[in-house]
Parts: sequence; C-alpha cells; structure tokens
Amino acid sequence: MVIGIPRELKDHESRVGITPAGVKALEEAGHKVLVEHMAGALSSFPDDEYQAAGAEIVGSAYDVWRLADMVVKVKEPVEAEYPHFRDGLVLFTYLHLAPLHALTDELLRTKVTGIAYETVRDRANTLPLLTPMSEVAGRLSVQVGASCLEKERGGRGVLLGGVPGVPPGNVCVIGGGIVGTNAARIALGMGAKVTLMDINPTRLRELDDFYAGRLYTMASNSYNIARAVAEADLVIGGVLIPGAAAPKIVTRTMVSKMKKGAVIVDVAIDQGGCIETAHPTTHTDPSYKVDGVVHYCVTNMPAAVPNTSTLALTNATFPYVLKLAQLGPQAAIRDDAGLREGVNTYRGMLTYKAVAESQQRDWRSVAELV
Ligand SMILES: NC(=O)c1ccc[n+]([C@@H]2O[C@H](COP(=O)([O-])OP(=O)(O)OC[C@H]3O[C@@H](n4cnc5c(N)ncnc54)[C@H](O)[C@@H]3O)[C@@H](O)[C@H]2O)c1
Repeated sequence: MVIGIPRELKDHESRVGITPAGVKALEEAGHKVLVEHMAGALSSFPDDEYQAAGAEIVGSAYDVWRLADMVVKVKEPVEAEYPHFRDGLVLFTYLHLAPLHALTDELLRTKVTGIAYETVRDRANTLPLLTPMSEVAGRLSVQVGASCLEKERGGRGVLLGGVPGVPPGNVCVIGGGIVGTNAARIALGMGAKVTLMDINPTRLRELDDFYAGRLYTMASNSYNIARAVAEADLVIGGVLIPGAAAPKIVTRTMVSKMKKGAVIVDVAIDQGGCIETAHPTTHTDPSYKVDGVVHYCVTNMPAAVPNTSTLALTNATFPYVLKLAQLGPQAAIRDDAGLREGVNTYRGMLTYKAVAESQQRDWRSVAELV
C-alpha cells in the first residue's frame, strides 16, 4: 500500500501522522510511505530522519494525496484539503464530524472512506486513539488555565497553589474521564482545591477512593454545576458523549455569575464545547472574555506540545495503520470490530449513528456495507 503523510494545515497544528519509527516498520512490511517535505519538522522530526527510515520525501501536498492509497493525518482536513478527496481514498485521522457539516458533505460526495480516530474502540470498549491526546489536553488544561489566571493574560491574579497563609485556587473539573482525571491530577499536584463532577457515580466512587479525600467529587447536575462554577477560579470542561456534540451544561447565566477574571478552559470544544459561551479559538489567538471571564477554547490543544503529542498519538494509531496496510481497508474493517466503529463515512454513506443524529441525516451500519 502507498501511505501518504501530508503536512498539517490547521492553525498551529504541529503534530504529524507518523514518526520515523512508524515509517521503518511500514517499509519493513513492504509498504511505501510518502512524507510531505517538512511534515514532521515542527514535531522535531526532520525530513532526513524520515528518509533514513525509508520514506520518500515529496515536495507537494497535492502529490502526497494523489499518489497515496491511504492518507494518515492528525486533524480533520481544512477546506483547502477538500479538493484532494477522491473515490477510493482511505483517510485515517481525527474527523470530529458532528459539528462539521461541510466536511461531512465533501467526504460523502467524493466517497472517501473516512476512519475517525475518535470513534475507534478497543476490546475494553474504550476509545484508544482519543486517550493519549486527552491525557495531554487534560494535563495541559491546568497549565494553560494557571497561565490565563495571571493578571497579564486577563485573569484575576490567583496562584493555583496559594502560599502559606493564603488559600489555594479553586478548580472545578466537569467530566471525570481521561481529560478530567488528568486535569485533576495536575491541579492537585499544583496544590489547588479541586472539585470534580461527573454523571457517572461509579467513576466518582473510583476517584474518591483513589485520591482518598484530597479530591472533592460531586454529582453533575445543573444545581451543583451552577454553585461550583460560581465559586471557581478555574473551570475545566471535559465532558464527552462519544461522536456527538457536547451538551451545553454550563449556561450563559451560570457564566455571568462567575468571578470576574476567573478562567474557563473548554477542552470539549472540539465536540462543540460544553460551555454555552465557548466558541473555538486557535493557538494564535487562544482566549477571549465573556462577562469578564477568560475563555480558552483551543480545539487542538496537544499541538502546543507536538513532540510529546506526536509520540503519544502514533504509539496508539500505528498498530491500526499497519493493520489497514497489511490486510487492505475492507478486510481490516471487516476483521476488527473496534476499527469498524471508527468508520464514519464509507462509499458515500454516513456510517456513524451519533454523527448522523447530531446532523439529522440518514446513516447505515458499515457492517452491512463491507
Ligand atoms: N481541545 C482539545 O485539544 C482536546 C484534546 C483531547 C480531547 N478533547 C476532548 O475532550 C473531551 C473529553 O474527552 P475524554 O477523553 O476525557 O472523554 P471521556 O469519555 O474519557 O470522559 C468524558 C466524561 O464526561 C462525562 N460526562 C458526560 N456527560 C456529562 C455531564 N452532563 N456532566 C458531567 N460529566 C459528564 C462522562 O461520564 C465521562 O466520564 C472530548 O470532547 C474530547 O474530544 C479535546
């Protein structure tokens, strides 16, 4: 199989779909890897490392997409990449289609097989290709939140850890999944007072047990959320309903009652955001204020730390890339129920129920189509 690795075009997206180690393993298995010139440079993987591993460096994105049977990327294609789509192409990347109607239209129109990292499942029924980036984003959310709390960046000037004689900052984490637990871990490590909310009582029980009284847990409902965010210096949104748009559980009214200069980091913004006043921002212009509250809503947070993120992401994606290349897409999708869950578009049909429901479209199970 010919595997194409284009340079990412999304603003400040500095990760890349494969490492030189991945190229070497694919070459050894008899496949050909085309890497766009400078695709890995921002992740600290220069062209010559790819070349030494056996890749062919290609001068233009146009040729990478044109010559590849499968394109492996990081973020969902931006508009400038839509003209590269063609019938028979396999696209393996994060797609986050629920809020992206135009991208969905193009993938369906051109009959691209779109396999979304974020909906692939493993045997434990977890989301193995979302996990590493959620770990990065969760840990980073506290780092950027602490920075936004500084006066210079519009925050209320609170040091999360406090100092002797001054209480620590108040962090409210909504969603106790991978993002939430990693955020809580770093916030606790910085010495903040941390409250974590989830609708899943089992999750709250596990976290309560693990942190043995250092973490406050609360059932997530609108009454509790309103009270917790009003007291918070930093709110971190990390809720997820897989494949669907995030529910707006922090309302505009709740935001208007927060402390001036408090900070919201809505990590769930890539699924539309769980804060009503949140809208997507970029690394170039990451934050804005509503009612005096700083909002940081970058949709690709891990791009801020691309070396760590590329290594973490490709550790998880590579076994699937190899399987798709070895078996061919149709057999790989038929053979692996978890990979099949990742197929969002197939031969012009939408094949992921939650995306179809979010966009009010028809869908068909890919199992019926392969
Ligand atoms: N912005 C970024 O760069 C970035 C990076 C990585 C992940 N994300 C996003 O972060 C979000 C969270 O990812 P995750 O891996 O932690 O997911 P996860 O499935 O591990 O956790 C989600 C949690 O949300 C909880 N939840 C659902 N509805 C809730 C509600 N109403 N109130 C409180 N909790 C609720 C679930 O019970 C679950 O524990 C996703 O939308 C993901 O796409 C964004």
